[in-house]
Amino acid sequence: MLILAPSMLAADFTRLGEEIRTIAEEGAQYIHLDVMDGAFVPSISFGTPVIQKLRSCADIVFDVHMMVEEPSRYVEDYVKASADIITVHAEACRHLDRTVQQIKSLGVKAGVALNPATSLSVLDYMLDQVDMILLMSVNPGFGGQKYIPYVTEKIKILRRCLNERGLHTDIQVDGGVNLANAREVIHAGANVLVAGSAVFGDQTRENTRAFMKLLRECEPWNVTR
Ligand code: DX5
Ligand code: ZN
Repeated sequence: MLILAPSMLAADFTRLGEEIRTIAEEGAQYIHLDVMDGAFVPSISFGTPVIQKLRSCADIVFDVHMMVEEPSRYVEDYVKASADIITVHAEACRHLDRTVQQIKSLGVKAGVALNPATSLSVLDYMLDQVDMILLMSVNPGFGGQKYIPYVTEKIKILRRCLNERGLHTDIQVDGGVNLANAREVIHAGANVLVAGSAVFGDQTRENTRAFMKLLRECEPWNVTR
């Protein structure tokens, strides 16, 4: 299934509950929660207290993207704060395998993220271990940036590689995704789309609806089934 994961970073922080309820009502399956530590990336965003308090707002998957140095230090806290998926950056983990196993042992899904310039080869030995691979299509740290075109080729290569191994792993693409380039991203082989500034704003409901319509139209292209 094609999945929309609106990034809360672009939401109105004075009405987070309402924003999440709106996207859930329109069919978005995930809420993408960008945790930034001011060290792995320049910005600091939010942490467990905010996530924990939002849990009761809507029945939606909490997709936590940790842009944090050595995230293994916090994985347990985020599971307690009701994360359903925890994605860590390969670049931020000294022992990536250990961190992935730690996440899985706590009963949640494990994702690994790669920055745009990081080679897919770092995942050679991890492909069958992870539930989701997040390909960054901007340099992490800020919302509202422009999609980096070479990532489309990277998505294609990764999907081919997964297919060759008979794996149906989710490929999530994050950064600069909008209604104009979403088809390209899906056609390349991604099935989980993060979108922040293209979803949240004055027209959150209408934007989510338009994304969900596009996803339904593209469902026949979805190669992960
Ligand atoms: C960037 C974050 C993204 C970002 C996406 O560091 O990981 O999730 O908020 O926002 P847009 O869709 O505006 O690029
Ligand atoms: Zn993100």
